[in-house]
Amino acid sequence: MEHIIEAKEIKPETIKKIFALADSFERRHSTPLKGKIMAALFFEPSTRTRFSFESAMLRLGGSVISSDNARELMSTTKGETIEDTMRMISNYADVAVIRHYEVGAVKRASSVATIPVINAGDGPGEHPTQALLDLYTMKRELGKIDGLHIAFMGDLKNGRTVRSLSYLLGNYKDVKVSLVSPSGLKVGDDIKEYLAAHGVSYEEMEKIDPIIGAIDVLYQTRIQKERFVSEEEYLKYKGVYVISRKDADAMKDGAIIMHPFPRVDEIDPDVDSSPHAAYFKQPRYGVLVRMALLAYLLK
Ligand code: NCD
Repeated sequence: MEHIIEAKEIKPETIKKIFALADSFERRHSTPLKGKIMAALFFEPSTRTRFSFESAMLRLGGSVISSDNARELMSTTKGETIEDTMRMISNYADVAVIRHYEVGAVKRASSVATIPVINAGDGPGEHPTQALLDLYTMKRELGKIDGLHIAFMGDLKNGRTVRSLSYLLGNYKDVKVSLVSPSGLKVGDDIKEYLAAHGVSYEEMEKIDPIIGAIDVLYQTRIQKERFVSEEEYLKYKGVYVISRKDADAMKDGAIIMHPFPRVDEIDPDVDSSPHAAYFKQPRYGVLVRMALLAYLLK
């Protein structure tokens, strides 16, 4: 039985299979998961990711049981461990999608699970399915991953989507990553070491301007308010990077702007009509990728 917990464990062959399945689901409607149940357990609020998974399961003919407020509603408040919660859910569903506020909690759940478990985000840890859909977006919009120059911008310290996507990029050739963040929100050394060890060249910088005309992808992220110790600390960084229409217009032909959403103020709405804006296409690719993942895990 396979789980999807950490992006760095996902093999290149698996990525290929998932992308091929995603392509096929776009072409034809089928309901291979009829009679199967997906449990969505969210211990941290989310509408986007949970709806995306639920939509994917329903489109495949499956059914869904779901809790958006598991932290308060589930017995965790009574002191139940994630392991016990998982043992229970294993009897109710055929696959579990879990988001948790603690790094490593979903992995612990998977260690006792008798059904496949998908990590839908564990605190500032990982978000492997977002990374897969981000990668799929790049492949669909740019035709390839090898050789791309990608700029990650924003809260690279706390953003889990950038961590997971960096791991996946380690599978491709000649990828260049520019890490654009304030000095207090730099990506962790573990990610930089991983990139270096996997042949991805990277540079760190505080401003996007010198490279805006050279990059293929501008991956903008939200300052992760919920990870800051205080409102005051957050306000130091709120609004540090706002992509303007002028920035978008300075990008080369075919280059794209992505964002995992939700956006707060980091992309000006004037950018939405730019030919470079790809962030409203990501959710559609996301459902296809999550359909592919569910079908793959439930075979
Ligand atoms: C991301 C997340 O939850 O990490 N969003 C998402 O999955 N839709 C990014 C974010 O919250 O900024």
